[in-house]
Amino acid sequence: MKLFNPGGERGSAMSYAGLLEKIEIMRSTLRWATRIERPDIEKLLRQANTLRDEVMQLSHKERFVQAVSKGTADGEAAEAPAELSTGERRQALLARSFVFEGTFGDNPKLLDALEIAEKAAPTDLPVLVDGESGTGKELMAKVIHANGSRADKPYISVNCGAIPDSLLESELFGHKKGAFTGAANDRKGKFESAHKGTIFLDEIGELPLPGQVKLLRVLQSHEIQRVGSDETIAVDARIVAATNKNLRKLIEQGSFREDLFYRLSVIHVTLPPLRDRKDEIPLLIAYYGDEAAEALKRRPVALTPRLRSFLLRYSYPGNIRELRNLLYRLSCLAGETADLAHLPEDIRPTAARPGAAPGAPAAGISLAEAKRAASDDAERDCLERGLQEVGGTVAELARRWDMNRSHLQILLKKHGLHSKDFRKES
Ligand SMILES: Nc1ncnc2c1ncn2[C@@H]1O[C@H](COP(=O)(O)OP(=O)(O)O)[C@@H](O)[C@H]1O
Ligand SMILES: [Mg+2]
Repeated sequence: MKLFNPGGERGSAMSYAGLLEKIEIMRSTLRWATRIERPDIEKLLRQANTLRDEVMQLSHKERFVQAVSKGTADGEAAEAPAELSTGERRQALLARSFVFEGTFGDNPKLLDALEIAEKAAPTDLPVLVDGESGTGKELMAKVIHANGSRADKPYISVNCGAIPDSLLESELFGHKKGAFTGAANDRKGKFESAHKGTIFLDEIGELPLPGQVKLLRVLQSHEIQRVGSDETIAVDARIVAATNKNLRKLIEQGSFREDLFYRLSVIHVTLPPLRDRKDEIPLLIAYYGDEAAEALKRRPVALTPRLRSFLLRYSYPGNIRELRNLLYRLSCLAGETADLAHLPEDIRPTAARPGAAPGAPAAGISLAEAKRAASDDAERDCLERGLQEVGGTVAELARRWDMNRSHLQILLKKHGLHSKDFRKES
């Protein structure tokens, strides 16, 4: 029976996401257990107690400790002192009946985006969402729609990059029968379909210049003309646009109209890439592992420690979508337990490929990341060994290593290590 390894998650302990993941693992352990023996019950109880302690500590400390210690432990600048912790900000959104549409995560930048979405949703102001591919731009558009007064009206999605130039105008605005070869009937366009609702213009950076001119006109006049028709039709569609391109750069290059950019980006939301919110990877792994198990009608796949460690460090150029696809792939290809060999060849660490040198860094990891990971590993190993030697007494370890005790605590927290787990069981 697979039980979570208390403190086994780098950096996740004492974070909201880390705790949730542990709870999820316990839940799935229980859900899939056919029979639980006494020793496992004892173990689950101990884990439940640890979790309770952590939740208590978190609620006490989160307000002031988290931002500071994160900054110091990771060598990054501490977050600007916010009045509320991320957990409290999420709670506050929940309390205000915010509809998350399945968006989760506690990263401050993500919460910034959700809070902007909350304020923008009830207005009809256009919103521009940018971020790399797979960071949740489309999900954010749905969040904005779901939290506004148009929630029960149509939500229409158009991928501007996927429509051939010649069909674009007809796709967006419709056409009159006989307007061009192949126009056998009158046809409604996406804008008309989105009347009273929301239209999501995905990959807006791909919209060719003539289309941009027409879109600008619609934004100004709130009316459209079907191709081949003189009649103007009033449309009331709220616009959310998304792009993974840097539109300002496109403006400089002359391929995107500046006036359209300002029209679309009255509210501008940027979604952070997953590599900037790595603390949320454990939670996403647990979530998509369960989702894939349900979809594939199997038990959630177990991960070998080295695969888990790879997944925690990988840079995810395809962001959350890539992580989700990876979990589906692993759940489909692996038996009970997935290992590095189940990863797609192009991202598999070279060590896992036949004939490669052991210890070579994984593809997709930069030199700096590889260095940091190796140094983190060494630090963690050392801390574990130290704690074992002193039977989990932090004060003793601090004395032996001639270290400041609170600095040692910060390091333990960074690695999700709990001194309790190293105490000899009586
Ligand atoms: N914060 C998040 N929480 C949970 N799932 C997310 C989150 N952001 C994105 N996803 C999921 O990741 C996948 C890609 O999101 P999507 O909105 O299509 O990204 P984009 O439009 O930026 O390429 C979807 O399956 C989506 O549900
Ligand atoms: Mg998308």
